[in-house]
Amino acid sequence: MAVNFDEAVVHLEKRGFLDVSIDPTLDLFAEIERLKKEKNAVILAHYYQEADIQDIADYIGDSLGLAQEAEKTDADIIVFAGVHFMAETAKILNPEKKVLLPDLKAGCSLSDSCPPSVFKKFKEEHPDHIVISYINCSAGIKALSDIICTSSNAKLIVDSLPKDQKIIFAPDKNLGGYINKKSGRDMLLWNGTCMVHEIFSLEKITKLKIRHPEAKLIAHPECEEAVLKIADFVGSTTQLLKYTQTSDVNTFIVATETGILHQMQQSSPGKTFIAAPPDNACACNDCPHMKLNTLEKLYLCLKYELPEITMEEGLRIAAKKPIDRMLQMSKELGL
Ligand code: 13P
Ligand code: SF4
Repeated sequence: MAVNFDEAVVHLEKRGFLDVSIDPTLDLFAEIERLKKEKNAVILAHYYQEADIQDIADYIGDSLGLAQEAEKTDADIIVFAGVHFMAETAKILNPEKKVLLPDLKAGCSLSDSCPPSVFKKFKEEHPDHIVISYINCSAGIKALSDIICTSSNAKLIVDSLPKDQKIIFAPDKNLGGYINKKSGRDMLLWNGTCMVHEIFSLEKITKLKIRHPEAKLIAHPECEEAVLKIADFVGSTTQLLKYTQTSDVNTFIVATETGILHQMQQSSPGKTFIAAPPDNACACNDCPHMKLNTLEKLYLCLKYELPEITMEEGLRIAAKKPIDRMLQMSKELGL
């Protein structure tokens, strides 16, 4: 229910976003552009955001690209159209900037699967291991990690470490298991999963493959092993997008969140993209967290500069170290 600004601020913490009524005749695209210039703000959006948000963003990318962009921006305000851990990473890198998230409740099941207090005990039980954490985790987990990685650079980062280095990989057991297989490692895996990528239906995907024998199945490494096993290509969202752009194949079954299809369709209008179906009644697989952000919420958060990401300075400094290490390693690896 839309309310006035003062009431909305009172309700902000509980609701996660500013619910203020918007004049329905307003051209939100034009207003957002105007506010962006006026406030020297930049909009960074993940590929899983709704199409309107992708269209108004200054930069669209995967988790690594977004972190790299956040590190180098000279904007005063970063509006992060993504989920909480992504906006938090932008804040960790930019303590002096205002980082806004259109809906603070845009979380991540993978991040939630790894509470810092429990993980701390697990880490203490394995003092001879270093910790590599997938960026889909809280600042608390980052502060307990040695290196952060994303799905774009995880294998290269793991491969760059000595073969006998003992490693805990958190929180995604599917990505960790995939890297173990690809790099011949035996990393200790935290038992976390993504609610979106773990529910793809192997049976329905197999039927689609039979119906479209010319199609390539492309999958994000957060998918379960059985899906990754039959995939023609596995990669981060950016890598999947690039694969569709450079491949001479015309049909793709896409096993990741459906938001990415917008960029795939835009950059290859002549090609066909089929969203891999989940194991439920839906035909496609949306991340309920990513999709909490809307163009209206983005407009309100830019206008009122709320909700804002804040963080205790000690935690921020501890969480920054492994992110800096990832960014440095990525630079050295040419990513
Ligand atoms: P990418 O790093 O590939 O963008 O993945 C982010 C994510 O949340 C996947 O579910
Ligand atoms: Fe988290 Fe999965 Fe949503 Fe990505 S798709 S933000 S990993 S819940």
